[in-house]
Amino acid sequence: MLDRINAVILAAGKGTRLKIDTAKPLCPALGKCLVDYVVEGLTRFGQDLDLNFVVGHQRELVESHLLRQFSQMKFNFAHQQEQLGTGHAVQVFFEKFPLAWENKYTLIVCADTPLITSEVYQRLYEELIDNNYDAVCASFIAQRPFGYGRINHGEVGFDIVEEKDASQEQRKITEVNSGLYLFKTSHIKKYLNDLDDNNQSGEFYLTDLLKKDLNVKAIKFEQEIDFLGVNNLVQLEMAEKVLAQRKKEKLMLAGVRMINADSIYIEDQVEIEPGSVLHPNVQLFGHTKIAAEVEIEAGCILKNSVIGAGSQIKAYSYLEGTQVRKNASIGPMARLREGTIISDNCRVGNFVETKKTLLHDGVKVSHLSYVGDAEIGENTNIGCGFITCNYDGANKHKTTIGKDSFVGSDCQMIAPVEIGDEAYIGSGSTINKNVPSGAFAIARQRQVTKENMAHKFIKKKDKI
Ligand code: UD1
Ligand code: CA
Repeated sequence: MLDRINAVILAAGKGTRLKIDTAKPLCPALGKCLVDYVVEGLTRFGQDLDLNFVVGHQRELVESHLLRQFSQMKFNFAHQQEQLGTGHAVQVFFEKFPLAWENKYTLIVCADTPLITSEVYQRLYEELIDNNYDAVCASFIAQRPFGYGRINHGEVGFDIVEEKDASQEQRKITEVNSGLYLFKTSHIKKYLNDLDDNNQSGEFYLTDLLKKDLNVKAIKFEQEIDFLGVNNLVQLEMAEKVLAQRKKEKLMLAGVRMINADSIYIEDQVEIEPGSVLHPNVQLFGHTKIAAEVEIEAGCILKNSVIGAGSQIKAYSYLEGTQVRKNASIGPMARLREGTIISDNCRVGNFVETKKTLLHDGVKVSHLSYVGDAEIGENTNIGCGFITCNYDGANKHKTTIGKDSFVGSDCQMIAPVEIGDEAYIGSGSTINKNVPSGAFAIARQRQVTKENMAHKFIKKKDKI
């Protein structure tokens, strides 16, 4: 017998009460899937675990997600074709993996309880070992016990009575089963084949492995919220709120300041270094990474973007798939799209949109511009109202501007076009030919001025 633990995650159920097509383990929560939090909690538990899943409903999707999300880890999957109950799920697991009988302990977790922490697993483990119980389950006092299995204590051990099977008296019990258990595998072996489906649901209940006259114990936990099971979209939202709160608290304790943290949304995979400040209503999604001493002002939305140390993202800017390097200033109200790279000390001001664009160090695009499929060299200044005409109706073309150049306000670059270093483009120019380094280019109508002619054009309202 090995001192290892079979962790068996029950993930075969349909999740009918969710009323959406997504399989329950794959429900989105804070930018990841519900089941990911279960795997991470187990990983943090730190014991020698074999990770097993009982899958059924949408099993291909569940399996491929897990293999992708945790590509370094090894998982076993047992297929429960018909979902005949939680006890049946465990039977299916041991039939498929008979070697699992060799592991001394078996931990059973539901895929729909994402808030269980590694401390909970640790405590169950210690209780079982220290008191030499054959099985323990985690219980808690429920504010609303409806729907849970009730813990019906005996002299030794206890029964778990499901809602449907409970008497009026038993329904009044507020201590309930969380659905998390740790067994000595030998205990499961002894009783697993005795399970029957003589109950109101006609299911094989795993809970029947816990009996009044056996050496089993319900370990009562204080924190009800840790055991929240997601059965419907209201509970999904509750779980997500708790995950969000935990994420933000962790960041704040590590030195990230948040102003009105309740209004801030940060997905679980986001990384932020200490010394950064987030203002109200900031939303950070996906693999966004924020270095130290960054300030993100109110209402900014960042998706899969990387911000370098000391940069400032001013209010209501929207960044997607963008890299901003050090000490840059973006916005307010800038929109940086996929493939944008903003290098050190750049300034990108209000109402500027960029896409697939590289700005080298110190470039300024301060106002009202579209910069797409472009590369702009060091310290070049782009005036207000600049447009790269990058699309000819069929293809995209590139605009390249060298370093230390100056592009006056209201210029358009009809791509493909190249401007050299230290070039100067006069305001109001529409440039469709390359401009070599050091050249001055201007492309606009000459001005005509006619003295004393304004009165012909100025209209005055008749006085009444
Ligand atoms: C179960 C417990 C109940 C406990 C509650 C806590 C039983 C009989 N009851 O009830 O005492 O209070 O959890 O939330 O165990 N699953 C399978 N295969 C199946 C059936 C279920 O893999 O054949 C999986 C589900 O996908 C889910 C988990 O097992 O992840 C729990 O099943 P669910 O139907 O939600 O059980 P509850 O009715 O909530
Ligand atoms: Ca459940």
